[in-house]
Amino acid sequence: MQKQIYVAALAIWIAACKASPPIKAVSTLEEVMHHMVIPNAQVIWKSVGTIYTVGKVEEIQPRNDEDWLAVEQSATVLTEAGNLLMMEGRAKDTGRWMERARALREAGASLHQAAKARDVAAVFERGGNLFDTCQGCHFEYRYEKDPNIIRSH
Ligand code: HEC
Repeated sequence: MQKQIYVAALAIWIAACKASPPIKAVSTLEEVMHHMVIPNAQVIWKSVGTIYTVGKVEEIQPRNDEDWLAVEQSATVLTEAGNLLMMEGRAKDTGRWMERARALREAGASLHQAAKARDVAAVFERGGNLFDTCQGCHFEYRYEKDPNIIRSH
């Protein structure tokens, strides 16, 4: 009798293990935004640009392997953050949200490609696309929740 109970308990335990998926959303959506998405998007946006001051034009761009690696690293984080946003527990639905998260993943992957190719113009242009993916999702899912957020950017 004792043994039967033990076997039954074991069977339930095995079934429970099988039922639980191997991946799980642990960090909150805000944490993914603040600790992964925002700082790494900033690295991308600050990596290429032009600063105009009186009598001077300064071109900003990655100048050596170390600089380029920083862009690659941030692009990798953004790419995979797209996947993380799709996980159960973070995804707000199974339709439009997934498309928005996929857009982030694709923007990240194309930036990674541009950084690997050391293509300054492509990093600049795709950095703009990256911004559009942030805004696209926010207009649909963030501002709706908090209408006081200014929609100017
Ligand atoms: C797939 C959707 C999605 C994408 C893509 C996305 N975000 Fe967000 N983001 C959200 C949502 C939803 C919130 C609001 C979170 C909440 O308050 O529940 C948010 C919040 C934020 C916040 C405010 C955090 C706070 O504390 O209120 C910032 C800043 C932000 N995102 C930056 C970005 C940037 C930068 C990108 C692009 C590089 C980006 N997000 C891409 C969905 C997204």
